[in-house]
Amino acid sequence: IDELLSEGVDGKRVFVRADLNVPLADGTITDDGRIRAVLPTVKALADAGAKVVVASHLGRPKGAPDPAFSLRPAAARLGELLGKDVAFAEDTTGPSAHETVGSLAPGGVAVVENLRFNAGETAKDEAERGAFADALAQLADVYVGDGFGAVHRKHASVFDLPKRLPHYAGHLIANEVEVLKKLTEDVKRPYAVVLGGAKVSDKLAVIDQLLGKADRLLIGGGMAYTFLKAKGHEVGISLLQEDQIPAVKEYIERAERTGVELVLPVDVLVAPEFPDLRTKAPANPTTVAADAIPADQEGLDIGPETRKLYASKLADAATVFWNGPMGVFEHPDYAEGTRAVAQALVDAPGFTVVGGGDSAAAVRTLGFDENAFGHISTGGGASLEYLEGKTLPGLAALED
Ligand code: 3PG
Repeated sequence: IDELLSEGVDGKRVFVRADLNVPLADGTITDDGRIRAVLPTVKALADAGAKVVVASHLGRPKGAPDPAFSLRPAAARLGELLGKDVAFAEDTTGPSAHETVGSLAPGGVAVVENLRFNAGETAKDEAERGAFADALAQLADVYVGDGFGAVHRKHASVFDLPKRLPHYAGHLIANEVEVLKKLTEDVKRPYAVVLGGAKVSDKLAVIDQLLGKADRLLIGGGMAYTFLKAKGHEVGISLLQEDQIPAVKEYIERAERTGVELVLPVDVLVAPEFPDLRTKAPANPTTVAADAIPADQEGLDIGPETRKLYASKLADAATVFWNGPMGVFEHPDYAEGTRAVAQALVDAPGFTVVGGGDSAAAVRTLGFDENAFGHISTGGGASLEYLEGKTLPGLAALED
C-alpha cells in the first residue's frame, strides 16, 4: 500500500477487501477487533484523498440477501472509529452501490452490503465467480487486499477481483504475514503451541505440520477428548470425533518418535449437561481426573491442575502460538482454562501470537489488554492454513 500511496490516490476509487466478519448478538457487535484492524489502511487511503469502497463478507448467508447478516452495524461502527460519516450501500454491485460510490467525494468512505448476498462470491464455478468479480471491478480503479481473515478463501472478491484491477496489499495483510513468518522461518525455541477449539478435524493439517516444527504441543478444548479417547480413556458424553481416532493415534505415536512433547489435560471440569450460554445460569461443574470422566458427564473446560501444567509449559517458551479456546469460555464457570492460557501468554517472556477468531475474541471479552500479547491475528482459518504451509488464494493473487 505504501507504493500505492506514493503513486497517489487522490480522487481514485479504491476497493478495500476487508474482513468485517465480527461477532454479533441481536444486531450488536460484541467484538470490533476486526474493524479496528483495518482502520490504518482505510484511514491512510481516505487521508490521501481516495474514494474508499470497503467490502466484506459477514457470516455465511446463502448467496442471497438476508437481513440477519447485513453489514450495516459494521459500517456504523467503522464510521464511529474513523470519526466520520461512512456511507452504506444496500446492495453490493447494484444501483445502490453505484449511486453510493458515485457520490463519494475524495476522502470519503463507503461500505457496500455483504459480498455473500451474491452467489457469485463463493461460487466454485470460475465463470460465475468471474462474472461477479467483473461487476465488483466496475466500482473501483484500484484493489487493496486487507481482509486477512478471508485470504484462505478462493472467493471472487479475494481471488478473482485483484486479477482485474491494479492490486496492492494493505497494512493489515502485510503485518499479519510478517508476524506469521516468525512462526515458520527461523523460529526461536522452545516453540510451544496451544491448540483448542471444538473439532480436531479442523486442526489435523496444522497438527501434522507442527509435529515437525514445534517443541511442545498443548491440547485443550473439545478436541482434547478425542485425544484422551485415543489414549484409551473414557470421555463420557464429551465432544468426540470417533472417525478421527486413527489419525490422532498416529500423531500421538509420531510425537513420541520425534520427541515433540504432546501435552494433554490431566484434569477437566465436567457437568451433566451443556451450560446455558444465553442466561449464563450457574452450571455447577465438578473437577475430575482426565482418565476418570463419568459416563454421564461432559468435559467443558480444562481443570486447575492442567491450568498449572500448561502455564509451566509456556513459562520458558521463546515462541508461543495459541489457537482455540480451552473450554466453553462464553460461560463464566468454564472460562478459567482459557483465561489461564491467555494469562500464561501474557506472562511468557517470548514472542506470543494469538491466532484465530474465537481465541482473539476470548482474549478481549475476558478483559485482557491486547498490547500484552506479541500479536493477535485477525485470521482464524487463515492463520492456521498459513502455518500449514498452504498457498493462500488471497495472498497469491496479491503477489501475482
Ligand atoms: C473467519 O471468520 O475466519 C473469516 O472471516 C472467514 O469466514 P468463513 O470461515 O465464513 O469463510
